[in-house]
Amino acid sequence: MRLPAIAACCGLAILGPVNGAFARGVGTERLLHADQEPGQWLSTGRNYDEQRFSPLKQVTTENVARLGLAWSAPIDSNRGQEATPLVIDGVLYVSTAWSKVKAFDARSGKLLWSFDPKVPPEWGIRGCCDVVNRGLAAWGNKIFLGTYDGRLIALDARSGKPVWETNTIDRAKAYSITGAPRVVKGKVIIGNAGSEIGVRGYLSAYDAVDGKLAWRFYTVPGDPSKPFETPQLREAAKTWKGDKWWTLGGGGTVWDGIAYDPALNLLYFGTSNGTPWVANVRSPGGGDNLFLNSIIAVNADTGAYAWHYQVTPSETWDFDATNQLTLANLKIGGADRRIVMQASKNGFFYVLDAAKGTLLSADKYTTVNWATHVDLASGRPVEVLEARYDVTGKPFIAQPGAQGAHSWHPMSFSPRTGLIYTPVVENSYAYNKDPKYQMREMGLNGGTGAAPATVYEDLHSTAPRTASGVLLAWDPVGRKEVWRASDLGRVGSGVLSTAGGLVFQGTPNGELRAYRDSDGTLLWSAKTQAGVVAAPISYQVGGVQYVAQLAGYGTRDYYSGNESRLLVYRLDGKASLPPPAPLPPARTLNPVAQFATADDIEQGRELFVAYCSMCHETPGANRGLFPDLRFSPMINTPEAFRTIVLDGALQPRGMVSFKDKLQPSDAEAVRAYLTQRAIDAVAIQKAGGVVR
Ligand code: HEC
Repeated sequence: MRLPAIAACCGLAILGPVNGAFARGVGTERLLHADQEPGQWLSTGRNYDEQRFSPLKQVTTENVARLGLAWSAPIDSNRGQEATPLVIDGVLYVSTAWSKVKAFDARSGKLLWSFDPKVPPEWGIRGCCDVVNRGLAAWGNKIFLGTYDGRLIALDARSGKPVWETNTIDRAKAYSITGAPRVVKGKVIIGNAGSEIGVRGYLSAYDAVDGKLAWRFYTVPGDPSKPFETPQLREAAKTWKGDKWWTLGGGGTVWDGIAYDPALNLLYFGTSNGTPWVANVRSPGGGDNLFLNSIIAVNADTGAYAWHYQVTPSETWDFDATNQLTLANLKIGGADRRIVMQASKNGFFYVLDAAKGTLLSADKYTTVNWATHVDLASGRPVEVLEARYDVTGKPFIAQPGAQGAHSWHPMSFSPRTGLIYTPVVENSYAYNKDPKYQMREMGLNGGTGAAPATVYEDLHSTAPRTASGVLLAWDPVGRKEVWRASDLGRVGSGVLSTAGGLVFQGTPNGELRAYRDSDGTLLWSAKTQAGVVAAPISYQVGGVQYVAQLAGYGTRDYYSGNESRLLVYRLDGKASLPPPAPLPPARTLNPVAQFATADDIEQGRELFVAYCSMCHETPGANRGLFPDLRFSPMINTPEAFRTIVLDGALQPRGMVSFKDKLQPSDAEAVRAYLTQRAIDAVAIQKAGGVVR
């Protein structure tokens, strides 16, 4: 890749005492040439290409069996841990649940500082998928953090003290930030999440020095009675129909993948689903609904539109296109090409030309039943008719389902093998139109209804009913699978590949593993005492290569505990973890007899879907991060239920009070619905079935 000359600099050349830690700060030159500093991990994807490949090779396929724990550090939360750490000049920075940050001496594990932005616990309800944080960015002597409640904070890398803080959202709306910021030429790039609930998506750039907004790119058109921000949004508005698509914001949030190409000066990012999921409710009368579910390129200095590719037009299955975007130079069809790659949620692996956005290939990397193929000429998926359950009015079991064939869990590209190593989840979901759906402010706005309990039998579906994780080695040039590892549990963690010929990945069952990159042979594993979903990294300090992994994800259920820890390994590491805490006995189903009418139960179902399911729903994808309420003794009396649901007894633990949204009679209806679900689950158990 040819690198452009960078005019007068930007970051700080020399910072503070030159004594190892914090000596130099991170400027444009260091970020551009990240691969020339193999021991560091300067940005969340390691380089601007977001390849997550470590050039270190002290740990190899020959000696990886000697990998042992060097040090570990406890993390003070039992919520999900999804972050990729940074390592800069001997200091490891990591973000954790509730948007907290810790800095450690990367060699000894000594805690240098920690920072808590004090996200209000009640903000927990303003997101779909837990109060997680996926990472940080660095620039100059600052560390940047996006908080769950939508603030962007610059911390002094040496002390952890805030230098500036700016609000990036409309605080009356259900925005949240879970993704890692990126820094490009002194601008901090940050998106947000919230399309499930109802917000308007955008990506912003802030000045790293003072936190001033430099530019903002809206991904969907706003209220058409007001002027559109850009000509592209005026055009995009023509692809939306009906008279209320903007009222809940439209969706299209930029909650994860961002990449940067210095030679083209383009910034790439993916957008999420719309609000609500169901296309013909969101936009009655059709339309592609630009720029939902798209990969977009903009000028990194101005945010001006360059190109877009809509991965799933008129999307109706929750197939966000926000997954990681990875850049590489590969020979495709005999020509050297600069490409953008995505293993998208919809089950297709996309290769696009980085300069123009032209689709070069799109291939199924897992079982996909909602489309037969992607037509390369038009760039559009060729759908099967039954897949549009919103049009047919009949349930459809899509594979992959709403969980996606691959979500945010980072993938890795190894220039050594030319392969992509990506987590894949084999799963399905039964979609059904909900004729009673109505848009609800601050509620979950999926808009899909419950399919009949017997839907798999009714449709003779053999699709997997529970999620199962796979690690896939994919050849983006040959457009085919090379190997897979498949006994990972519900979903494999993010992935790291290294010049030592290794691929590292964790499992939700509590293991970190290393495979040979060429053929997938399992060479090493360690018990992590907690589920692992975040991506590992590798760094070198004092001549020693380390592998670091943030662990923290319930292995069995919410109450099995989640010993969140940062785990750091090296060759011949001799540290050990304290013995695992004994598991409390698994909870059993113990519902009272049904006490309500069928109408009340149905009302309870609607309220549960709108307000509770985003945390407490379990089918197919029990994330282990929230209690499965069918098993809760708290559903057995109105008083216990009300204390928690209306009075907020567990609010400090992230179980918000719903007193503004639910009347006591509503809470009773939800309790009746949960009681019914528990009664149904008992029946399944009695018949010898497995409760999912
Ligand atoms: C933002 C996520 C979130 C949402 C939304 C949510 N909960 Fe919770 N809920 C939690 C968490 C976290 C806990 C566990 C708290 C703890 O550690 O004790 C919990 C616990 C509970 C418990 C106690 C379970 C037990 O056995 O200890 C009940 C009952 C409950 N929730 C009901 C509901 C109902 C009803 C709704 C919808 C009206 C709802 N929750 C919505 C996060 C959520």
